[in-house]
Amino acid sequence: RIPPDVASLADYERHALQRLDAARVAWLQGGAADGLTVQANQRAWQGLPLQPRVLRPLAHGHTRIERPGLRLPHPIMLAPVAYLRLVHPDGELATAMAAAAQGAGLVLSTQASVPMERVAELVLGEAERGPLWFQLYAMAQREHTLQLVQRAEAAGFEALVLTVDAPVQGARDAERRAGFRLPADVRAVNLQGLALPGMAAADAAAPGLAAGLCGGLLAHAPTWSDIAWLKAHTRLPLWLKGITHPLDAQQAQALGVDGLIVSNHGGRVLDTMPATAALLPAVRQAVGPEWPVLVDGGIRRGTDVLKALALGADAVLVGRPHVHALAVAGALGVAHAIRLLRDEFEIALALTGCATPAEVSSAVLSSAVLTSA
Ligand code: FNR
Repeated sequence: RIPPDVASLADYERHALQRLDAARVAWLQGGAADGLTVQANQRAWQGLPLQPRVLRPLAHGHTRIERPGLRLPHPIMLAPVAYLRLVHPDGELATAMAAAAQGAGLVLSTQASVPMERVAELVLGEAERGPLWFQLYAMAQREHTLQLVQRAEAAGFEALVLTVDAPVQGARDAERRAGFRLPADVRAVNLQGLALPGMAAADAAAPGLAAGLCGGLLAHAPTWSDIAWLKAHTRLPLWLKGITHPLDAQQAQALGVDGLIVSNHGGRVLDTMPATAALLPAVRQAVGPEWPVLVDGGIRRGTDVLKALALGADAVLVGRPHVHALAVAGALGVAHAIRLLRDEFEIALALTGCATPAEVSSAVLSSAVLTSA
């Protein structure tokens, strides 16, 4: 069921776009407003030239990430994406099995379309799996946030990832043009009875611009005091996703947060934000060399993974690519896509003279210009 002409993540994307209807394509591919940040994310990685090194000792290499607070078989994780049953009937269950089989860390979305406990049951017994984390949005009421946290803890999730870059839905022009609506059988089943702040306008039957945000919906938007509160109310490590400013990164560090994810939400929230490749170095610089920093946005090739490590990330997450593979070939497709990306990463590692991820530094980047024409 994997099409014979699939050799890269871009091939899964091409097949997925042929299979999904226009509304789902708008939901999955679209960015905020004009989609400029979506494009910028991919182009920024592509535009960084690599500098090979030859004849260096590569025997006994490996792809493991071994840092305080972060142990991974390889530096590729799956980013939280909502409502995976929109593209495949098994949804998050298929994705989770594939991630576990390929040793990829998985961050399950708060807006997953299957119960979080079922995902945890499937994955936790797998010997070769990567970490299993739960992505969280701050709910309008703290007690609702706490309910989710306690469920995730009880289910066996190993860290919480609080997404902080989307207190409101971005201006999703593509979705509105395509008339995207959730079908009746796909729901954020883990949020039943819980309210997200700032989302009411976006969830309405005919979402207009998020009028009314300043008039009340954002009254419960989370602030730094909620981070301190959350730290005090969970025994799990807490990561923040959507940090892009060095001062925000330092504030997170000062509050005892365990790590952060440099992300612009795949270009879906604030259009014309810079690419994450451009934002990552300053964040790494701000928090020092030891603290865990991940990055996502536009990672499509093993060379992109290598470049992310070169700019200071400990690992990367991919978003849309695992959904493309799920749409095309279910769990098998997702597992295959992870394998393709990991193989490409290993090739890039070897060709730049690095035996392990720990050997990757900015020296793998060339100061020459990569011309496109
Ligand atoms: C997302 N993303 C996201 N992030 C999050 O924290 N919670 C969520 O529920 C979702 N949902 C979601 C849906 C869809 C359709 C997309 C494309 C993305 C953002 C996601 O975790 C990640 O930051 C980006 O997708 C990374 O960019 P790439 O890899 O898609 O370019």
